[in-house]
Amino acid sequence: IHNFEKNNSVLNQFISELRDVNIQKDSMRFRRNIERVGEILSYELSKTLEFTSKNVQTPLGDKKVSVLNDDLILCSILRAGFPLHQGILNYFDKAENAFVSAYRHHPKGKDNFEVIVNYLASPALNDKILVLADPMLATGKTLENVLKGFENHGTPKQIHIISVIGSTEGVAYAEKVFPENTHLWIATIDHQLNARGYIVPGLGDAGDLCYG
Ligand code: PRP
Repeated sequence: IHNFEKNNSVLNQFISELRDVNIQKDSMRFRRNIERVGEILSYELSKTLEFTSKNVQTPLGDKKVSVLNDDLILCSILRAGFPLHQGILNYFDKAENAFVSAYRHHPKGKDNFEVIVNYLASPALNDKILVLADPMLATGKTLENVLKGFENHGTPKQIHIISVIGSTEGVAYAEKVFPENTHLWIATIDHQLNARGYIVPGLGDAGDLCYG
């Protein structure tokens, strides 16, 4: 787990704006802040990937440089994953892309819910690096179901989850259900999860705050 909460950086500024009820009303800023978190966490993740060296010709000569060697498949979990996906794609611009829909179905009058995954479009995952983008990791049930949905799409070399905010419980659950070659990149973790499965204090419902 790579949790960046304790490193003071501009990332904390973006997280503070995402949490703030007065600032998060500005949905364009909310989306852009999620996108910026995606950019920063992608940069951090990139430091663990494989690079190869090659020669490039500059206008004035030759230089040995290093370039990204890994093939990435970036998968966004709709809806709130969408701006995060864009942030990651801004840095991994050659990534292939996958999309999954997941939503919480609350039976009428009940607090419990099930997660429904009813759309998944993805290239084959074999030997690729799968990057899952979901801003919230509350119970971890969404990620678990998305992982199940990928069962017939091959085996990735590694899995990276990029998230904005998680709960201690959800992070522990994800650690349990995901294979060993999984890494979590997350900006902040809160301790509480309420009866409806919301992170407390959290930031509210990221999907609604992004898209109404
Ligand atoms: C939210 C969030 C995550 C999920 C996390 O999505 O965007 O996908 O809940 O919760 P979990 O870890 O308990 O599964 P939601 O189902 O509200 O859909 P939305 O993105 O369309 O708002």
